[in-house]
Amino acid sequence: MTSPVRHFITLKDIPPETLHAILNNAHVLKQEKFNPPQLFEGLSLAMVFDKRSTRTRMSFEVAMKQLGGHTIVMNMDEMQLGGAESIESTGHVLSRYVDAIMLRMSDQAMMEELSRHSTIPVINGMTNLSHPCQIMADLLTIEEKLGAIKGKKIAWFGDCNNVSNTFVEAAPIFDFDFIMACPEELHNKAPKGAQITADPAKAAGGADVIVTDTWVSMGQEGKSLDMFWPYQVNADLMARAKDHAIFLHCLPMHEWEEVTEEVAKSKASAIYDEAENRLHAQKAILAWCLEDTGVKIT
Ligand code: CP
Ligand code: NVA
Repeated sequence: MTSPVRHFITLKDIPPETLHAILNNAHVLKQEKFNPPQLFEGLSLAMVFDKRSTRTRMSFEVAMKQLGGHTIVMNMDEMQLGGAESIESTGHVLSRYVDAIMLRMSDQAMMEELSRHSTIPVINGMTNLSHPCQIMADLLTIEEKLGAIKGKKIAWFGDCNNVSNTFVEAAPIFDFDFIMACPEELHNKAPKGAQITADPAKAAGGADVIVTDTWVSMGQEGKSLDMFWPYQVNADLMARAKDHAIFLHCLPMHEWEEVTEEVAKSKASAIYDEAENRLHAQKAILAWCLEDTGVKIT
């Protein structure tokens, strides 16, 4: 059963027309960045992290504050949740203090459980399985640079991870082509229905967007990189894409493993626009989640 509370945890649980509207609102709110509407006056967002973060933490905090709201941030190991208190109790208690919760929680099932016991929206700030806020920012960046996302070819290189999983989920919703080039031994980690090849040249051919992420997601430190080197994004790979192709990376980069310095610092690289767009995309996500409190983008 769909929850009446507007959680933003999994793209496929949100109606496609809502996701399109959120993306459009992100464009609008970006245009208003120097004169931000005070949509969140009197509203508070709790943010809880069980992993490091620069972009997610900063951009949610700035998004709330620029639009007139407040934030409170805690690391999970400082909370009773990390000790004796249950997820259920935590959901009930936070719902009595704030208007929405943003969680970076490794275990997605735990996040979903918390959302079932929250009477306020829960926003996914990344789990081991997904990173929907990142993908909304990436789509915003692609539309800014290349126009409508529909029909674009987005080619992914390297690991199968939370970010690629969410691109796979977004592709049919936004009607773009998403192809992954990853080592053969990882193909069973890709979600059902994903287009996946072991041939990086095939994936890059005619692509509008070349995208990668670290080969070592948080919590996987010490893993061997041997199988990944043929999937490094370098100038040869970029040359196979369309002339106007852009390069994206959610950051943080592991310099210079998954991408060469030459590509990351090239004119095609949109990585810092992409990082900025976390801010604008999340303002639109928050506005949708908080609509029941009277928030309305006009
Ligand atoms: N891209 C991203 O989520 O960055 P942080 O880990 O710094 O939040
Ligand atoms: N795949 C990376 C994304 C970081 C934003 C990780 O999970 O660490």
